[in-house]
Amino acid sequence: MNVFGNKVIRIDAKEKANGVSKYAADYYFPNMLYAEVVHANISHGILEDIDTEEAEKIPGVIKIATYKDVPGINKFGHVVEDMPFLVPIGEKVRFEGDAIALIAAESPEIAKIAKKLIKIKVKELPGVFSIEEAIEDKILIHDKSNIGFKRKIKRGNLEKAFNDADLTISKQFETGYQEHAYLETQGIVTNFSTNLELYVSAQCPFYVQKDVAKILNLDLKDINVIQTETGGGFGGKEDVPSYITAKAALLSYLTKRPVKLIYSREMDILETSKRHPSKSYYKVAFKKDGTILGVKSKIYLDMGAYSTLSPIVMYRTMVHACGAYSVDNVDVEVLGVYTNKVPCGAFRGFGSPQVLLAIESIMDLAAKKLNIDPYEIRVKNALEIGKKTSTGHLLKESVGAKKTLKKVYIASNYEKLKREIQEFNEKNLYKKRGLGWAHIFYGVSLGAGGQFLDGATAVVNIQSDGTITVMIGNTEMGQGAKTTIAIIISEILGQDVSKIRVLQPQTLFIQDSGPTVASRTTVFSGNAVKIAAEKLKENIISFLSSYLKVQKEEILFKDGYVYFKNKKFSFDEIAKLCNDNNVKLSETGWYKTPKLNFDHENGIGEAYITYSYATQLSMVEVDLLTGKIELKKVWVCHDIGKVINLEGAIGQVHGGIIQGMGYVLFEEIKQKNGKILTKNFNNYLIPTIKDIPNEFNVDFVEDEFSQGPFGAKGLGEPSLMSAPPSIFNAVSNAIKKALNKIPISIKDIITEKE
Ligand code: MTE
Ligand code: MOS
Repeated sequence: MNVFGNKVIRIDAKEKANGVSKYAADYYFPNMLYAEVVHANISHGILEDIDTEEAEKIPGVIKIATYKDVPGINKFGHVVEDMPFLVPIGEKVRFEGDAIALIAAESPEIAKIAKKLIKIKVKELPGVFSIEEAIEDKILIHDKSNIGFKRKIKRGNLEKAFNDADLTISKQFETGYQEHAYLETQGIVTNFSTNLELYVSAQCPFYVQKDVAKILNLDLKDINVIQTETGGGFGGKEDVPSYITAKAALLSYLTKRPVKLIYSREMDILETSKRHPSKSYYKVAFKKDGTILGVKSKIYLDMGAYSTLSPIVMYRTMVHACGAYSVDNVDVEVLGVYTNKVPCGAFRGFGSPQVLLAIESIMDLAAKKLNIDPYEIRVKNALEIGKKTSTGHLLKESVGAKKTLKKVYIASNYEKLKREIQEFNEKNLYKKRGLGWAHIFYGVSLGAGGQFLDGATAVVNIQSDGTITVMIGNTEMGQGAKTTIAIIISEILGQDVSKIRVLQPQTLFIQDSGPTVASRTTVFSGNAVKIAAEKLKENIISFLSSYLKVQKEEILFKDGYVYFKNKKFSFDEIAKLCNDNNVKLSETGWYKTPKLNFDHENGIGEAYITYSYATQLSMVEVDLLTGKIELKKVWVCHDIGKVINLEGAIGQVHGGIIQGMGYVLFEEIKQKNGKILTKNFNNYLIPTIKDIPNEFNVDFVEDEFSQGPFGAKGLGEPSLMSAPPSIFNAVSNAIKKALNKIPISIKDIITEKE
């Protein structure tokens, strides 16, 4: 490998650092209008009237749109169309962020004035604000039960497992919301010429294109979605940009003018998706030696007012509910419930952090009861080739799970560390330190339920000066995909990474490559790019071998040069030569997922194409007087098959750990009657630079995946997933009390004393 594993400068670093990159809010078009959204601001009720008369009188208000103006289908829903785009009169409002009317005005100020003058009348209904209230089904949010979706794994003989058990642990867990807190809020600018051009901050431009087409009753050919530079998504820009874009697109369609809609932070927090709060009930059977015999669990996810992506999130919850362990007897049930609150959806980890917290906490409890080290109990149950996951997926390759455990054990000098912590705790009365292990796995790709979307394409062009342009159907949202893609091309064609440009995708110019989620870009777009680059290499080699009369095998591509027999030419010169000789310098690659066998009825089979694995050990210090928790040191190791972009991978791990730390220690959405009170970062607290650990020890295992590009798997989400359970266990360990709820509150730490 020439480029893999080296330090490479991010290809979009300079533009971003210099403020040159264009985000949605940076787009302006002549004659552009500014949009505002009128929300219901009531959690549950019947919409009786929308009065726009006063607002329409304001000079500069060009259009006020309601449900009556929607030319296509006025509904959204990835699995079930249960969400109105604009709530019709006579129908239900189901959460405060339901959209009632849209305003297009000559200036943002005018739009805001108009917003205040629109009067809506809603007959309020009692609401459902918790999982407990929802499952009682006394108040129905939709026409049927509030328990909207169920998924289950039923495998083996659980009764026997519990009969044979030496130890049974039963425990309940509760997890809260998490807000994505991307730096750039949701935003869209439309341009209307012969067709609709939509400049959107989004992870999934093809979702936006299809959803807008449905709302406006247009052909896909008439909608070009251009993904703008995206300042963070974290799952929050998977389906949500469709709902936002449709608003501006409708106004643009009605006025035939460009429209800009940039969300304020308050609007963004009020209306858009979060990580699902959960309640889970676990019962796990262990043998004396620590072996897990069986897992029974019932997990409720609070979907909020509409199902959006929840049924898909629940699939991942289900598959990850027993953790990264080999378990033969399983009864996992995941239930998605409706409440009159903000709809929840995709968030890095996609329904797995909630359950990994539970199972990893139980592993610690069992270790303690059985007098086994928490490290050992994880090694004992870890997956390896020839073992089966909880869905019965027989693993045949690329299982670096145990290697990640071992590497963390060694890197942390664990036995010595344990002694040091013990000494510290003996010396300090009010400051206590704790260590926490977490071992996790992550199913790469969309999985057995999403295979129809699991393909990706890339178009690679060599310009006549040797520079290279690429368009992929997946997106950069900060995770470093562009650089990873450029490194793969550089590895194959030898051209320098800095001479490769990865373009923003446009839906009219590239095939639908599915959503940029599920940490799938490296495998899917990476493979597509690899296929295209290899075709280009073959085109060049074929030409050169006949032109120069050399054997194909004698031609090498490396470090920006093409070598043959003792000669070398720059890649740039070769490109020019090829161009002047009519060599084909544009190629496409397409990669699709191998077929998975899965029984959805019983949750048994090959859930994902492969799995990434990780182990994290965290050290925290807890101040028993103030309740302050400090994450001091972290050791983490990921098996991602192959490290393509080393610096990028380390960056993902740092960011993931910090975001995971926020979830456990800081972040809390406070609500009253379903309405969010914490609408900005003054009261929704996320970690800052002052909260991050002073030591991150990041390492990787490269247990290659035969289908991955050069063996690579995925890292984007696992980088977060090991953090919450590891930090949670470390705090429990420090205060010598097994916690069962996040975010950890000060009350959990400071128990009333004498
Ligand atoms: N990293 C940054 N900086 N910004 C992001 O928005 N999103 C995460 C993860 N890492 C995100 C990120 C999520 S939710 C996913 S699914 C993956 O990146 C997607 O990118 P990948 O497919 O390249 O892993
Ligand atoms: Mo990531 S939650 O799959 O966008």
